[in-house]
This record gives sequence, structure tokens and C-alpha cells, in this order.
Amino acid sequence: MFSRLAAKRLLEIRRVLRPSLALSSPASTAARSFSTALNYHIDSPDNKPDAPWEFTAANMERVKEIMSHYPSNYKQSAVIPLLDLAQQQHGGWLPVSAMNAVAKVIEVAPIRVYEVATFYSMFNRTKVGKYHLLVCGTTPCMIRGSREIEEALLKHLGVKRNEVTKDGMFSVGEMECMGCCVNAPMITVADYSNGSEGYTYNYYEDVTPKRVVEIVEMLRRGEKPPVGTQNPNRTRSGPEGGNLTLLGECKPPPCRDLDAC
Ligand code: FES
Repeated sequence: MFSRLAAKRLLEIRRVLRPSLALSSPASTAARSFSTALNYHIDSPDNKPDAPWEFTAANMERVKEIMSHYPSNYKQSAVIPLLDLAQQQHGGWLPVSAMNAVAKVIEVAPIRVYEVATFYSMFNRTKVGKYHLLVCGTTPCMIRGSREIEEALLKHLGVKRNEVTKDGMFSVGEMECMGCCVNAPMITVADYSNGSEGYTYNYYEDVTPKRVVEIVEMLRRGEKPPVGTQNPNRTRSGPEGGNLTLLGECKPPPCRDLDAC
């Protein structure tokens, strides 16, 4: 009784402070990551369990290759690479019929696959753009300006986070630390424009609001922006302007003179 009253009161406070967060409508989920943007599945013409979906012949070969990495009594261990392949084949997102196809291959109940696909934010359960841009939102990137990076992308493309541009080319999402904090802030581009054969997942590091807009326009023109650091004064993760320490020849480690022993 008490906890119900407390929850009700909390909801009222949230409504006052942030009306958009308090309502459990699809609009309220727009700011979440793609995988969590759908709290539950609702059938739609392009996302329903009885829609036909199967791996292409070429991808079936890749499925066999992936399955060969696992013992035959642990087929379910292949769930993540197979979901990844299905997502690439399906233009960057996983309809429920694709998840069912994966469940069939690894011989488990579909719920076992849904559990994985809904847990990992790299699996998208709603449509994304051909180029899905992911802005790192974790502390080092945030301190180095990731909010401004995201704002520049959203403004330039005229979308909200997790929305797809009208031409289907771009969408912007958020990821947590992608492991190159030394080059913060950074974005990743998942490129679904060439199916699973041409799929790439590239990092663009040391970006600025101006540079991410340039990267978007290069992608739009079909160009391939150079990956890695976008700061011309850095080499990979090295210090800007070159090394300031450890400039001489490295000394070899001291060795014992065994003859003198
Ligand atoms: S915080 Fe952005 S890559 Fe680690």
C-alpha cells in the first residue's frame, strides 16, 4: 500500500518536472537507445512474426561457418553473431521474423533470442538509416563535447535522436564508451548501405561539430571519410604535435653478465 502511494507520488513529481518522461507513450521513449526504444513488440506490416524472413544463400554459407565455431550441443552460443548477420542483411535492424529465423537455426525457443536482442543496444529493433551514426555519450567523450557533437548532427539532419531522415539515409543514436576515450569525443558509423557484404563499422575520433557535419556530407556523396583521428596534428592516439617525452633511443634492458658469475 505504502509503496504504491510512494510510486504514485513519484510519478506526479516526474510529470511536473519532465512531462515527456512521465508518460508511457512511444514519444516518451524517443530519447532512449534503439534497442530499448521498443518496450514491447506490436505487430506492424513490416514487423510481424508471420512475415517471411530467411538468410540469403550467401549468408547461409556464413551461418554454416559461424556454427562451425561451436560444439553441436551448444548451438545457442552462436546467437550474437547470427543476430548481427541478420541485422546486417536486414538493413540495420531486426524484425521479429528475423529473430525467429535465428531461433530456428540454433534450435531454441524464440524467447531465448528475444532476450538477447532486447538486452544489447547494438541490436536495433526499429528501423535505422543506411548510415547509423552513434555518438559516444560516456563521461570522457561528454567532457570533451559529445553533447555538442550530437546537437550538430541532429540539427544538420533535421531529426531527433533515434529518428531516421526522410530519405532513409541517416539516423543518430547514442552508445556508451566505445573504448577509444583517449581520442574523445568520437562517433561510430555503422554502414548498412551495401548489405551484409559491404557492412562496415568505423570509428571517427577527435571530432568537432564542424567535422561530423563534413563526415555526413562525405558519406552522402558516397565518399569514404578517413577513419580514426580527425585531428591532423595527431597520429592515431599519439599526443597532439608529436611526442614530448621519450625522444631518445630506447635503452635495452640491463642484462646480467653471465660470464662474470
Ligand atoms: S568515453 Fe567515449 S570512447 Fe570512451
